[in-house]
Parts: sequence; structure tokens; C-alpha cells
Amino acid sequence: MEKELSTMKDFRPNSIRDPRTVLQLTDPHLYADPGGLYDGLNTSESLRAVLTLAQARQWPPDALVLTGDLSQDGSRAAYARLRECMGGLGVPVYCLPGNHDDKDAMRQVLPGGNIHAVDHARVGEWRCVFLDTAVAGREHGHLSAEQIARLDERLSAETGHPALVFMHHHPVAIGSLWMDEIGVNNSPAFFKVLDRHTQVRAVLWGHIHQEFAGLREGVQLLGTPSTCVQFAPRTDRHQRDTLSPGYRWLRLWRDGRLETGIERLEH
Ligand SMILES: [Fe+2]
Repeated sequence: MEKELSTMKDFRPNSIRDPRTVLQLTDPHLYADPGGLYDGLNTSESLRAVLTLAQARQWPPDALVLTGDLSQDGSRAAYARLRECMGGLGVPVYCLPGNHDDKDAMRQVLPGGNIHAVDHARVGEWRCVFLDTAVAGREHGHLSAEQIARLDERLSAETGHPALVFMHHHPVAIGSLWMDEIGVNNSPAFFKVLDRHTQVRAVLWGHIHQEFAGLREGVQLLGTPSTCVQFAPRTDRHQRDTLSPGYRWLRLWRDGRLETGIERLEH
């Protein structure tokens, strides 16, 4: 009996590890060609540099979430390089698609081992829901009735756990005319579901290639810089920003508190 108790004691510290860490890396825009340039920047090298920064600052995290535009050209070779980059990390990696991705190629090449293309995950006491906002051949985002229903089901299934919702496109206007035409085009349906569930602490996305922070009904709304080129905020037309590539970290406490921040490469 005593032995059993001591085994339980050994197990407990790990199971109640607090806080948990999640890193969001987004919009790496990898090409089939490892030398592929996005507006003059080598996207493979930039992703590796951002990952190296994360490994120096917050490692190992409990999960990495990659929120779309994983490839610029939707090629199998680009997803194979992403696998190469993430496959040996020893931490769970969750992938969702963006407007530049080819969902079939992604699904065929990426999942396996520590890399997952799923619609939800557990991180300690927290729950993550991954939504697919990508519409084939279009830049804007849309949440299908199926995605909306799945979000509602997931949140209804585990009401006692703080939750994060990840997607590629932004569900709120960010103050850039050109960008706001290509966000989620049916976000009222999304927020209608969110408003029925009080456990969601934050909604996170990529797509906008810049940091964004807002608050709606107690839910943090968070946009995250790309691991490659940055877009300038509050512009009518596409304009590159001088800020360097980066990622977002999230510290998730068992009691539902959330801390977050952005790390960027040094120029
Ligand atoms: Fe992007």
C-alpha cells in the first residue's frame, strides 16, 4: 500500500505541471524550392531561425500550433520540408491550413509521429480547438456550418476547461482596409457560438503577418506575426513592415489565467 502511494506521489508533480506553454508559429510560406523567396526573404531559413529562437527562449513547450499558410505554393515538397523541420522536435505540433495551403497535399504529407492535423487537443487542463477557415482558391476565410457546429460541440463537451480557439483568418477587423476584405466573412456566426460558452479565454490567428491584440466579452483576440515577412498595420494597401519575423508564446495556468507575448528575431 505504501509503495502504491509513493508511486502516485511521483506521478502527481508531472500531471499538475503549471503553467503549460504553447507556442504559435504562423505563415511560414515555405516553397518547393528550399531557396524560395517571399518578397526577397528566404522563408525556410527564416522559419528555422524563428524555431531556434523559440528553442532558446521557451523550450520545450507542451505544444506548437502552426496556424496556416504553411506553404506558399501548396507543394508536397514544401510540406515535406516542414516535416523535416518539426518532426524531430519531440513536442506535439498541430497544423491547420491557410489560404495558400493545399489541404489534400497537407493531409497526405504532414501528419505522423509528433505532427497532427486534428480539430482539437488537450494541453493539461486546457483545451485547444483548431478551426479550418480556408476556402479553396480564395484569399478570404469562411467557417462552414460543419466547422461552426464542431466548435459548438467541442466547447459543449468540456465546459469545465479553459479553452483556446485557433484559426488562420482574422474574425475581427484589424484596421487595414485590404486585410479586412480577406478575413473570416461570416464571423457573426462564430461569435454567436463563442457567446454561448464562457470558458474560451482567447481566439488566435495568423494571416495578417502582424501582432494584434483586442478584447471582446472577456475573450482575448490575438493576431500573430509571421515567421517570415511582416505586413504594416493600419494601411489601405499591402505594405511591408520593417519588423522582424517572430512567434507568440502562451503561458496557460490551471486556474484559467493566460499570459502571452511575442518574440522576434533581432535585426
Ligand atoms: Fe500568410
